[in-house]
Amino acid sequence: MADSSATQRIAFIPGDGIGIEVTAEAIRALEALIKTHHLPVDYNTFDWGAEKYLREGVSLPEGAFEMLRRDYAAIFIGALGDPRVPSNQHAADILLGIRFNLDLYVNQRPVKLLDARLCPLKNRSEQDVNFVIFRENTEGLYVGMGGVFKKHTSDEVAVQEDMNTRKGVERILVYAFEYARQHGFKKVCMSDKANALTFGHGLWQRVFAEVRRRYPEVESGHLYVDTLAMEMVRDPSQLQVIVTCNMFGDILSDLGAALQGGLGLAPSANIHPGRVSMFETVHGSAPNIAAKNLANPMAAILTVGMMLEHLGHPRAGARVEEVVRDAIRRDVTTQDLGGNLGSREVGDWIAEQL
Ligand code: NAD
Ligand code: IPM
Ligand code: MN
Repeated sequence: MADSSATQRIAFIPGDGIGIEVTAEAIRALEALIKTHHLPVDYNTFDWGAEKYLREGVSLPEGAFEMLRRDYAAIFIGALGDPRVPSNQHAADILLGIRFNLDLYVNQRPVKLLDARLCPLKNRSEQDVNFVIFRENTEGLYVGMGGVFKKHTSDEVAVQEDMNTRKGVERILVYAFEYARQHGFKKVCMSDKANALTFGHGLWQRVFAEVRRRYPEVESGHLYVDTLAMEMVRDPSQLQVIVTCNMFGDILSDLGAALQGGLGLAPSANIHPGRVSMFETVHGSAPNIAAKNLANPMAAILTVGMMLEHLGHPRAGARVEEVVRDAIRRDVTTQDLGGNLGSREVGDWIAEQL
């Protein structure tokens, strides 16, 4: 947690597609909160993304990670990904680069239904959908280990290795249990696929057996990821804290977003306790709706709330959620939530309330 008495500087990276549009609304919300809550916060914006990559062949300037670590209290990313860069190279360099280089091993993705009308399941209340996914964020299938052999031939072979370390697995499990303990959650569910992935997820099983013993007051359980996906839809009210690997956390968090009303409402935090952390929406750059004033800015605005809470400003964070909830209740929404307003108009209303 950063010191809230000194000025906290935030690095905004709007990125690509709707990332640019929703970040503009997130910044307006932040500016309003800085004024009304007297937050000791300022920010800079960086033009890292597909445009710069295509123009200059550069994803991030030399020394970018060191600069972020040294000069910033937090980083905000809109979204990265552009059809003109089919390799997704710049997105990997920036997004995964920040996660890996800053060792942001906790990807916290809350699933919280803010208005019962938005749940795609029948007869669910806000209390029924309120859990947190902790996604391991620095290992697994995302490390980029592997390669291709006999590329572009009919004998081509592709290997993508799933790397799991005892330390890496232990620290995310411990974080999830600590979070449960500190936030009054009684249950933690670890999810893997140890029945098929016996080496990598066998390690998850062994480390989980050790860690759960240190938290006897927390009820801990396990579900294979296929079953967990089914349970998330069948009865989300049983879930409180989920902890899982990088790949499964990615997939489950989009499913979780659907339970709360869609990707337009899902914020996330990429954390290394005590160090500069990064905040982003769960959604991507949505090229299908980019530059049309259609994107829902609420996920980005809720992400600002999570960031402020992390920076030691819980009242401002809570206020963000309250205003977004109010906007939904009054149908001040974009088309994905059934409304008829644009990104800008929803952002205007929220900034005004804040
Ligand atoms: P996506 O999340 O961008 O979009 C999926 C669907 O949800 C689309 O139909 C889109 O229109 C809709 N959607 C997403 N956000 C929305 C919002 N705020 N308001 C209304 N509708 C919204 O996923 P995708 O299409 O698979 O990926 C597009 C690009 O984004 C790819 O390049 C992908 O790699 C990248 N991506 C980036 C991030 C990130 O930077 N954090 C996350 C996910 C995907
Ligand atoms: C996410 C995204 C990223 C991921 C992509 C863009 C690499 O889907 O943040 O959920 O898989 O982590
Ligand atoms: Mn994803």
